[in-house]
Amino acid sequence: MLYPKTELCDGLSFRTCRVFIILLTQCLTVRVAEQSELICSHQPIVALAGDDVILPCYLDPPISASSETVVWTRPGLDPKYIHVHQDGRQMPQIQNPSYYLRTRLFVDELQNGNVSMKIFKVKISDAGKYFCILEPMLKEASIQLTVGVVSTPIIEVLSNNSGRVVLQCESKGWYPEPEVVWLDGEGNLLSAGPTETVRGPDDLYTVSSRVTVEKRHSNNFTCRVQQKDINQTRETHIYVPVQSSPDWIVIIGTPVCIVVLLIIIVLFINTLIKCSKRRQRMKRRDDWM
Ligand SMILES: *[C@@H]1O[C@H](CO)[C@@H](O)[C@H](O)[C@H]1NC(C)=O
Ligand SMILES: *[C@@H]1O[C@H](CO)[C@@H](O)[C@H](O)[C@H]1NC(C)=O
Ligand SMILES: *[C@@H]1O[C@H](CO)[C@@H](O)[C@H](O)[C@H]1NC(C)=O
Repeated sequence: MLYPKTELCDGLSFRTCRVFIILLTQCLTVRVAEQSELICSHQPIVALAGDDVILPCYLDPPISASSETVVWTRPGLDPKYIHVHQDGRQMPQIQNPSYYLRTRLFVDELQNGNVSMKIFKVKISDAGKYFCILEPMLKEASIQLTVGVVSTPIIEVLSNNSGRVVLQCESKGWYPEPEVVWLDGEGNLLSAGPTETVRGPDDLYTVSSRVTVEKRHSNNFTCRVQQKDINQTRETHIYVPVQSSPDWIVIIGTPVCIVVLLIIIVLFINTLIKCSKRRQRMKRRDDWM
């Protein structure tokens, strides 16, 4: 470090001057550190289970955090440390085992005041509020992590008769709890029965919902499962063909047709027989005469 030769130091011993200037620099650093704020994203950070995620936190205006103790923790966690960076390295011996080998700070970025933490392969249990603490600077900020799990719904035809179709939609394995809606081909909401929700031992939700639709016009129905906190939607379509009247003619009409045809044939044969008998009678009469 270069100490400027100023008039300030004239008349003082070099040593006194050095101490004075060190104090001054430290004082200035502390002032800058005081002005600098630790800022973490105010928006919740959203990730799907299995993703890697960065919890962004930084000092603004940027000052170096290289020589700081950077602590990441969560309320209610025991052991309480998620990641501790001290004297230029991580302290894995005091890390909570559930985060073992799953966290990192960007060591090269610390000098820019970037104390963001990356978590690899997030789990549902990682969701919650995190605190970033710069201990010597007495700075602390919090950030929310939301973790989601999604799955594609499956539509089943439960019954299909007398012009009505009962459809069931089921989607297994959501987190947090999603909502289910049914839409017709024009995107209008259909009124469906209540959504049944079951929470599994893995904390995941299975939802199902039934809707009864008319077969009057052919339609393309959609089951949409959505979760607003994680901004996720999954949907499946089913095409219900129109209940066409030719079907009814075929179903009811065919036996009627056959019966009518039989009657006509019988009548026709009957007429033929009568005719031939009459002709025979007339022939006999003619023969007599
Ligand atoms: C901090 O570093 C990470 C990793 O390089 C980067 O993604 C992030 O944008 C940085 N944040 C700021 C505020 O520079
Ligand atoms: C149903 O509608 C969706 C979009 O709403 C479309 O992607 C799909 O192809 C349609 N299916 C049929 C059979 O019309
Ligand atoms: C939600 O997701 C959609 C598309 O996936 C995206 O366009 C939109 O910006 C997202 N909204 C929020 C609040 O993240």
